[in-house]
Amino acid sequence: MTTLRLGDTAPDFVQQSTQGPIHFHEWAGPHWVVLFSHPADFTPVCTTELGKTAALSVEFARRQVKPIAVSVDPLESHDRWVLDINETQQVTVDFPILADVDRQVATLYDMIHPKALATATVRSVFVIDPKKVIRATLTYPASTGRNFDEILRLIDSLQLTDSHKVATPANWQQGQDVVIVPSLQDPEEIAQCFPQGYRAVRPYLRLTSQPNR
Ligand code: BEZ
Repeated sequence: MTTLRLGDTAPDFVQQSTQGPIHFHEWAGPHWVVLFSHPADFTPVCTTELGKTAALSVEFARRQVKPIAVSVDPLESHDRWVLDINETQQVTVDFPILADVDRQVATLYDMIHPKALATATVRSVFVIDPKKVIRATLTYPASTGRNFDEILRLIDSLQLTDSHKVATPANWQQGQDVVIVPSLQDPEEIAQCFPQGYRAVRPYLRLTSQPNR
């Protein structure tokens, strides 16, 4: 197993899930994917995380993103747990949870960090684009639930910066000013890309309004 890095192709796999066998690349199709692991079923933080993901279903779909969860617990446990998540978090879990009992996916994606958690997966997140390229990763410990609004914000930034010559500053949210990428220096091209103009706080820090609004 080699460490996966940004820009690598997301490894393909076939694994059981709560929605039947998943052939990962085929299942992903032309969508973005958020593949995220959690330590175990019937645990409190994981229950809230999967509930939050289900509650944000419309937001993921709006961005053409398919979420998919993974843990090393068996399918029968996942199926019972989903009923609990639905009831306690008042949602309908509508995305698959991989039953990675043989740890195939956990191993491919290096989701088990034995010095942090001996046998279970930690809280890994892989954001994968429609070309199956790993575009962002996050790793959290078992004790800290992830911020799924942040994951959506990250996807917003990736999708915006894929289509415009901008980057997003600290704590950026949809609709706020963005920065012009440093590599863009030609004045004519800048004027063409940003007819709304820009404000140069420093020559390297040029703010402009969000282009696709
Ligand atoms: C949890 O999801 O609540 C959890 C899982 C493993 C260790 C600690 C917390």
